[in-house]
Amino acid sequence: MLSRAATPAARLARGLSSSAHCRAKVAVLGASGGIGQPLSLLLKNSPLVSQLSLYDLAHTPGVAADLSHIETRAQVSGYMGAEQLDAALRGCDVVVIPAGVPRKPGMTRDDLFNTNATIVATLADAVARNCPEAVICVIANPVNSTIPITSEVLKKYGVYNPNKVFGVTTLDIVRANAFVADLKGLDPARVNVPVIGGHAGVTIIPLISQCSPKVDFPAEQLAALTARIQDAGTEVVKAKAGAGSATLSMAYAGARFTFSVLDAMNGKEGVVECAYVRSEETECKYFSTPLLLGKNGIEKNLGLGRLTAFEEQLVAGAMAELKASIKKGEDFVANRK
Ligand SMILES: NC(=O)c1ccc[n+]([C@@H]2O[C@H](COP(=O)([O-])OP(=O)(O)OC[C@H]3O[C@@H](n4cnc5c(N)ncnc54)[C@H](O)[C@@H]3O)[C@@H](O)[C@H]2O)c1
Repeated sequence: MLSRAATPAARLARGLSSSAHCRAKVAVLGASGGIGQPLSLLLKNSPLVSQLSLYDLAHTPGVAADLSHIETRAQVSGYMGAEQLDAALRGCDVVVIPAGVPRKPGMTRDDLFNTNATIVATLADAVARNCPEAVICVIANPVNSTIPITSEVLKKYGVYNPNKVFGVTTLDIVRANAFVADLKGLDPARVNVPVIGGHAGVTIIPLISQCSPKVDFPAEQLAALTARIQDAGTEVVKAKAGAGSATLSMAYAGARFTFSVLDAMNGKEGVVECAYVRSEETECKYFSTPLLLGKNGIEKNLGLGRLTAFEEQLVAGAMAELKASIKKGEDFVANRK
C-alpha cells in the first residue's frame, strides 16, 4: 500500500548521490539571493540536473561562474536582468522561484504581498511564454497568495495545468520532522510529519497524529509543539535580527522538493510530498496535503487523512485566512494591467 509518509529526508541524500540519468533543465529565478545561492549549489550537486539556468536582477554572472567550476555534470548558465529572462526559461522542465523580498522582524508574510505579487506575476508571465509545460515550484511568500497569482496568470495565457503548480511548503515538514525527532530522541531522517493547509501562521497545520513513526504527546506539549512549528519561520526572522528569513534550511527544503519532482518525472514510484496546490479536498480552492507525484506533476491528491479533534479545529481555524489570501491573489491578477 502507498504510504502517506514515504518521504524521509533521505531523499535529499539520494538527490546528491543517485547515479540516475536524467536530462532535466532546471531554472532558479532569484538565484543570487539568500535562498537562491545555496539552493543552486544543491541543485548543481545533483546528477538529476543536466542544465541549471540561473536568473536574477543582479550578480548571476558571478554566481554562475562560481558554480560552473564544481566538478558535477550540470551545465550552469547565468542570466541577468529582465531582457535575459526569456532566454533563461526556454526549454526548462522545472522552474523554482525564490525571487522576492523576505520578512524583517515584526512583519507577517502577507506584508510582503505588495512587492512579491508583482515579481511572481512577472515571472509567471515569462514561464507561460517560454516553458508553459514546466513544473513551477514557488517559494516566494506569501505562498498562500503567490500560488493563486501564478495560477491566474497561467490561465490568462491558456496554459494552466493545476498538476504542475506547487507552493513549496516543504520547510514546514522539515521543521516538524526536526522538532519531533529532537523531542523524542529519534533519527530525524526517519521521521515524517505531514503538514497541511497553507504556509503562514495558523494556516500551517502539522498532523502529528499521522507522524511516522507513531508518536504521542500530552495535550499541552502537543499544543506547544504545534505552535512552535507554526511560528518557526518567525523564530529565524527574530534570530537573524533584520538580516532576512530562513535561507539555508529553505534551500535544503527547496532542493528536497525539486529532487522529489525530478525523481517522479524519471518514473520513480511512490514519491509523496506535501505542497500547496489547487485542491478539491476542502472548501478552500488551494490547500496543502500529501501528494503522490508522477511524470506530469501531481498524480493523486492523498487528501487530509483521518484527523483528531484537535487537528480538525486547526483546519477550521485556518479557513478564513486561507480564503482571504487566495482571494487577494486572484483579485491582484484580475486588476493587473
Ligand atoms: N516557502 C517558504 O517556506 C519560504 C521560506 C523562507 C523564505 N521564503 C521566501 O523566499 C523569498 C526569497 O527569500 P530570500 O531570503 O532568498 O530573499 P533575498 O532578498 O536574499 O533574495 C531574493 C532575490 O530575489 C531577487 N529578485 C528580486 N526581484 C526579482 C525579480 N523580479 N526577478 C528575479 N529575481 C528577483 C533579488 O535580486 C534577490 O537576489 C522571500 O519572499 C521569502 O519570504 C519562503
